[in-house]
Amino acid sequence: MRRAPRARRVVVEARAKLNLALAVGPARADGFHELATLFQSVSLADTLVAEPRRRGFSLCVRFEDASVARGAGRGGARRGIAARAGRLRRRAPASGAAVPAGPSNLVLRAARRVAARAGLEGGARFTLLKRIPARAGLGGGSADAAAALAALDALYGLRLGRARRLALAAELGSDVPFAVHGGTALGLGRGERLTRLALERPFRCVIVVPAWRVATAAAFREIDRTKYGLTRWRGNLRVAHDIGRKRVNPLRAMRLGNTFEEVLGGRRPDFERLRAGILAAGAADARMTGSGSALFGILDAATSTSDFAGRFAGSGALFFARSARAGLRVRKWP
Ligand code: C5P
Repeated sequence: MRRAPRARRVVVEARAKLNLALAVGPARADGFHELATLFQSVSLADTLVAEPRRRGFSLCVRFEDASVARGAGRGGARRGIAARAGRLRRRAPASGAAVPAGPSNLVLRAARRVAARAGLEGGARFTLLKRIPARAGLGGGSADAAAALAALDALYGLRLGRARRLALAAELGSDVPFAVHGGTALGLGRGERLTRLALERPFRCVIVVPAWRVATAAAFREIDRTKYGLTRWRGNLRVAHDIGRKRVNPLRAMRLGNTFEEVLGGRRPDFERLRAGILAAGAADARMTGSGSALFGILDAATSTSDFAGRFAGSGALFFARSARAGLRVRKWP
């Protein structure tokens, strides 16, 4: 269907997610694993810009380093929280990882799928500004896919509606429905069965991304191989349902743990060192998000970001963020 664009430009802020807790259960007949997780959107975000084009989709990816410089020895805590933002690059910064700009990019896959389903003839030129480190368990690719769905909806007035958007999202990846949903949610099934929850109160957090990355599918295979956590699965599920009835306190949720922390193999000592470093610098607790490799720590009211940055001595790229009540923020320029 040929539709006139409703805007000259749509700008979507696509936020990263944390898994405050994540319990992996048995593999299903379709190869995916049952899981129970507590998702939380955070303020660290990519920006997707979409402009109308007669037909077809193009994508240009730029990188902005949103990590903070740190270490009292290298200029003190005050300089410590200056983000390295401002300089756009064609290649990922050291804290990032390669993001494909070709057809395998989730933005283009999402756009093509929406166009096919909605019978849309018009296209879009996308510009993606990446700040969320890729392959770190922060849901960056999923956020970008959700942003593409929202951008096309707004650009062409598709009125996809929530149920269709969530169904399309589930076809694109297990974490994409949450990226559409956003906020705080319990995820069951392969992560796509979502129940909206609320936080007891907003929180600030630190995110540390080591230089190494984790391949998600391989990490799931490792859980199958070692059968780690499967005996605890039913108990975890009960706790997850219990949490679903209350307002979420991130520290209480984090006590449930993350199954992927148990299958890090040779990376485990480095993970433990980083976790200890995050705690020593003043975070109240620290865990891995998703299948890793990123860790996050909760900052309580008494710990300032500059104090933390000055004290944190671990390796890896450091980011500060806040809990967010939505996964996407869409702005339209008429
Ligand atoms: O759905 P997504 O593309 O993010 O999943 C990547 C891979 O992770 C899948 O191909 C699958 O091997 C594994 N996975 C899984 N169980 C899940 C989610 C993902 O086994 N619940």
